[in-house]
Amino acid sequence: MTRALLDATRRLLRSAGDPVDALADIDTAAPLAGELRDVLNAHAHRYYVLDETLISDGEYDALIGRLRSIEERFPALVSPDSPTHRVGGAPLEAFEKVRHPESLLSLGNAFDADDVRAWYVRCRKGLGLEESDSLAVTCELKIDGLAVALTYREGVMVQAATRGDGQVGENITSNVRTIGAIPLRLSGPRVPEMVEVRGEVYLPLAGFARLNEIQAEKGDKAYANPRNAAAGSLRQLDPRITATRPLSFFSYSIGPAEGNVPETQSETLSWLAELGFPTNEHATRFEDIEEAVKYCLHWTEERDNLPYEIDGVVLKVDEFAAQATLGSVAHAPRWATAFKFPAREATTILRDIIVNVGRTGVIKPEAVLEPVGIGGVTVSQATLHNEDYILSRDIRIGDTVLVKRAGDVIPQVVAPIPGARSGAERMWFMPDTCPVCDTPLERLEGEADYYCVASDCPAQFMRLVEHFVSRNAMDIEGFGTKLSIQLVDTGLVSTLDDIFRLDLPGLLALDGFAERKAINLLAGIESAKNQSLARLLFGLGIRHVGRTVAEIIVAEFESMEAIARAGKEELLAVDGIGEIIAQSVVDWFERDHNLTLVENLRTLGVNTERFANEARAIEENSEVPLAGKTFVVTGTLEGLSRTDAQNRIKSHGGKVTGSVSAKTDYLVVGANPGSKLEKAKTLGITVLDQAAFEELFL
Ligand code: IVH
Repeated sequence: MTRALLDATRRLLRSAGDPVDALADIDTAAPLAGELRDVLNAHAHRYYVLDETLISDGEYDALIGRLRSIEERFPALVSPDSPTHRVGGAPLEAFEKVRHPESLLSLGNAFDADDVRAWYVRCRKGLGLEESDSLAVTCELKIDGLAVALTYREGVMVQAATRGDGQVGENITSNVRTIGAIPLRLSGPRVPEMVEVRGEVYLPLAGFARLNEIQAEKGDKAYANPRNAAAGSLRQLDPRITATRPLSFFSYSIGPAEGNVPETQSETLSWLAELGFPTNEHATRFEDIEEAVKYCLHWTEERDNLPYEIDGVVLKVDEFAAQATLGSVAHAPRWATAFKFPAREATTILRDIIVNVGRTGVIKPEAVLEPVGIGGVTVSQATLHNEDYILSRDIRIGDTVLVKRAGDVIPQVVAPIPGARSGAERMWFMPDTCPVCDTPLERLEGEADYYCVASDCPAQFMRLVEHFVSRNAMDIEGFGTKLSIQLVDTGLVSTLDDIFRLDLPGLLALDGFAERKAINLLAGIESAKNQSLARLLFGLGIRHVGRTVAEIIVAEFESMEAIARAGKEELLAVDGIGEIIAQSVVDWFERDHNLTLVENLRTLGVNTERFANEARAIEENSEVPLAGKTFVVTGTLEGLSRTDAQNRIKSHGGKVTGSVSAKTDYLVVGANPGSKLEKAKTLGITVLDQAAFEELFL
């Protein structure tokens, strides 16, 4: 198969540059157009569905260019399965309504394991099964996107419609043709005369994030979630816009069909894959309902590790004959149910927006919310990221807002509910000065964040203390945010070395300090003196020196003194250290008060030497942050050569490849990125600008 495809591709490429005028007439052009179409469709299937790239972007473009010029010269050769439709046809005035030949049902819900068991018992009863009879169910992830029905006649997609109200949907054929994962023509030996394939169009999380970035750059409104973004993208009257959205698809069932079709749901999924559709790899058939329950609970925990959003698990009786016996009630089949995950979104009132000062001086807006329960946790604060985030979503104080809690990520305000406005809501802007030290805030060119640049800002210093004692740095137990604030506020700690000057009488004089607590804290501080050099270096809070970078530096230099003495060239010579990090380290050690700090730490007994095993321990460190991730670097990065960037990725366990494919996890882009960026966008791959790239190493 692959061999034949590659041979055909190569042959077509050889003539791809020939003038179309040389084709005598439509009869000579027709077989060529047909072959180009088949070869291009086969490559699209490899690429979008099977995750394999057989030809380069340039080669694909050359072939599609050839087909396009043939179609331009002989418009009669444009067929409904031509891949030239993928870029989007002419805009529509409105969507035509289409009546579904068989209605698209919705699903009953199960909210816990017992609901699932009760559903299963009802099915068994409805089928009159004996205790010893088995009844298999297929479990599938419930993809949070939009249901569509795709009609194929003689293997060619002739219509795509939204679900609508289940009876009548909208004709979105030209939009759906732009979705690379959806075959325009079916393949394999079992293509039926007619079939309606149903499935979910969705936007992968990476594509969603990127789309909102683009929306913000254009000054357009951000989408609240991937589902809305998928819906908004599919309902564009101009298919050329849909074509730019990295939509994807999973097929999950069939509607009306003519010809031979499978007899069970699990076989249907295999058959759909054979016809060329993406099917979800996690679908599983179970004979034992307790195994199905385990599947539901497993995905409740694991949903955040998927690259797309799911909102539950769909359980279906596997045999179609049994499904037919069970039938439907109202709009939902008795033979299926949706196990719904606990909600992670809720609406509440945005009472106020306050700003916090971070360790680096970054100013972060934070939402003060009317407390609301989300998935068993009361949420009263949430992040609002930055001013652009707030303005692009038009979030106002007093608004009813949608708040989301995903996994262990801090809750975030996703969007306002404009319909709930009373008119008393107020817009919010970043204050002009630091809320703590009153220094005017600065926004760096090309950055979304504002900074307090005062080196003596108490809020920044408080954050530095908090960072210095934190788990990944000096790891002092019992020393958290509250104590950091207290010690900085009371003046007991005004430089980091003051931490090692704390004593019992000083602590006992503080509010809330009993003897036991004070003694424990002092013991923790005492043992922190023996922390590794890498932890100390990280704890100092030098910009761009995250834990991993600290370890890389320490592997090369034997003491804090050696690091302080190192010149920029010496640092640059270290694998994984580029211009920006080297400069930041040199700048830090050039300041007198920092040198004094390091010297004071040493005289107070804090370890400033590399442990004998530290260099080796680093190599053995199992916490390789980029392990299993594939990167492509493109464009010109500032102060960091491409080789440096690639080395940095490799030294952190990542893999670097030369071209973007569905297997790429991140595309790092500098100035003038070229076609790789376009390709990454269509594939929904996370795109990192230089700042975001540097952040991976913090
Ligand atoms: S089966 C009668 N399977 O969930 C069967 N639906 O609430 C109905 N969905 O409208 C659909 N993933 O948009 C089915 N693997 C899956 C699904 C799935 C997502 C959506 C679909 C449907 C809704 C039902």
